[in-house]
Amino acid sequence: MAGSKHENKTFRRRTVCKMGLVTAIAVPLSSLGPPVLGQSPNRMRPQPGDQLVFDEGSNRGELVRPELLVLEQKPLAALARDPESEVLRDGSRLNRVMITRIDTKKMTARFQDNAADGVIAYSAICTHTGCDVIDWDAGQLRMACPCHESQFDIYDGAKVVGGPAPRPLAMLPLAIIDGVVTVAALFRGRVGFTQQF
Ligand code: FES
Repeated sequence: MAGSKHENKTFRRRTVCKMGLVTAIAVPLSSLGPPVLGQSPNRMRPQPGDQLVFDEGSNRGELVRPELLVLEQKPLAALARDPESEVLRDGSRLNRVMITRIDTKKMTARFQDNAADGVIAYSAICTHTGCDVIDWDAGQLRMACPCHESQFDIYDGAKVVGGPAPRPLAMLPLAIIDGVVTVAALFRGRVGFTQQF
């Protein structure tokens, strides 16, 4: 099972600075996940070892545990929190993720390691022009953007299956540590959008 597979992972903070490719007309985004000198901790992207905390719903403010999520439920917003400093990484909207629980056996194989006990997390920021991807097609199990109706397949790495979004949502790899959904690695994929002129 994906969760138990990750159960004993150990984590270390990455200190290597990796710059994302930014074009001349690029805007907000980037996957500047690793710590940047002088950057406020609450603006840093979710870091390996961070715990996820519900940012909406009846459990808002609580640590995310797999049993608090129902299979294939409408994704809920969550934020990362440093368990040592207790800093909530709420200083940038690019840090927000949408979480739900899936049947990992149905998931495209190359994304299965990013799930933990069936819990998955995708960036909440649409890759088209940056709206929050807050809608949900319960019939087709797709995340949807309310601005221009892009749709993303949660079982296939948030692949774009409708609308103008140019690329999938970034995925946040997860693990379970002491029963809590924890960040296993930096975002896979670029968070945010590139404005089109
Ligand atoms: S911003 Fe999401 S579809 Fe346009």
